[in-house]
Amino acid sequence: MKILCAYNANIDAIYKVNGLQMSSFAQDYGEEISARLQKPPGSISSITDFFAGLFLCMQNGTGAEWMVRDEDVFQWLKSSFLESSFMRMGGNMGIMANVLSELGASRVIPNIPNPSPLQMSFLSDRAIYVPDEGSLKRSSDIHNSEPSAYAHEMIHFVFDFSKGDNFFLNGKDMSVPRENRFIATYDPLNFELHIDEEFSKYALSNIRDIDGALIAGYHMLRETYPDGSGYEGKLRRSLEQLRAWKDRNSKLHIHAELGHFSSAGIASAVFSGLASLVDSIGINEDELAMLAGMYNIDSSGILEMDALSIIRASTVLCESFGIRRILIHTREFVISVSPTSAYESVKTFEALHFGVKCAAAFACTGKLADRNTLLAVASGIDESEPGRMQMAKLEDNIPIQYRENGIIGEYHGYSVCAVPTRLCIHPVSTVGLGDTVSSAIFLRELELGS
Ligand code: GLC
Repeated sequence: MKILCAYNANIDAIYKVNGLQMSSFAQDYGEEISARLQKPPGSISSITDFFAGLFLCMQNGTGAEWMVRDEDVFQWLKSSFLESSFMRMGGNMGIMANVLSELGASRVIPNIPNPSPLQMSFLSDRAIYVPDEGSLKRSSDIHNSEPSAYAHEMIHFVFDFSKGDNFFLNGKDMSVPRENRFIATYDPLNFELHIDEEFSKYALSNIRDIDGALIAGYHMLRETYPDGSGYEGKLRRSLEQLRAWKDRNSKLHIHAELGHFSSAGIASAVFSGLASLVDSIGINEDELAMLAGMYNIDSSGILEMDALSIIRASTVLCESFGIRRILIHTREFVISVSPTSAYESVKTFEALHFGVKCAAAFACTGKLADRNTLLAVASGIDESEPGRMQMAKLEDNIPIQYRENGIIGEYHGYSVCAVPTRLCIHPVSTVGLGDTVSSAIFLRELELGS
């Protein structure tokens, strides 16, 4: 399988939070943090903002990604946390490209916004080829090329916290209700949805020879940029690129993976722009709830991870926007909703199981590996109990065509495939699991000829 991947890649610096230690780091900012918690800023312009975002997530067990707006705060994050972090490939596109490569795609061609030696060193060496001066080069051959043209590496600090960890907030002893992560992102380049010239040229000239494209990074778009421009032109450029690919190769299968958008305006422009162009859209329950809320679709039950509510909202979105498939990945289960036949759904069902296993093994070991190794690790990881319960609830509520560790069913004329996830008790990190599930499913479906 030959697959194009665009647009966002960065370096994730993953830091394991120790609640008490963080509370002592934050001691000097105590009162200011309480004030910020009343009215969360949603981005980071000071050290206080950073602690407010982190503690907010830890308090509720929720995940979030806040942009670092101030270069001094970025320097402070680097000097305080980089040494004790471990770095690896980050960014939805970067993670998905590595998954495809490790799982056995024959050629993966990524758009690398900032090909610094450090960034390139995190690319999988199995099947990733980077367009360079008109030809494709293995990532290992360009490891030591030009130093970065940008003053900074695009580093996202991922603060992973664990369930049950204790910390102090407003003089109170708190406990984290659920493992999750808070991401502090400094990344002017990916905010632009940067498209590399060489990548564009290669993709367009070779598109007839390509099987699929995985695209992501739209959630990094901003309302305004330092030069006064908005996101509209950057989004248009990408949509034109996808349209040109489809015009030249109607068989090209495109999956778009969305993320957490900073504004409803951007979310709506991206979603409506992609809906009729791509073959499938991947989201998690937070993103689905946001989209449902924006389009006045009943969003009750989505955040509680009620599978039926998720299916109901997804079918309305598919119908309203002519979407060919929505893939929803949550911590407990993965669901595909599409207007395809039961025959096609059998392949999707197999692909969902494959994706869930790959993500579970990745969560447990923190590393990607070839598919046999991942599947062997996954066989020892239990299925999510809440996920299993939701599958049983679906069996009682919708017509079922097939059941075995999940279901194939039907809802208002749409085919539904759903499987429980597998949950590792002590994940190395929870970041990038949605990308791993989606890209593994994408590859398996291409292989099965869906
Ligand atoms: C977002 C973050 C990135 C992380 C990715 C995981 O793109 O910016 O740091 O690796 O999500 O899905």
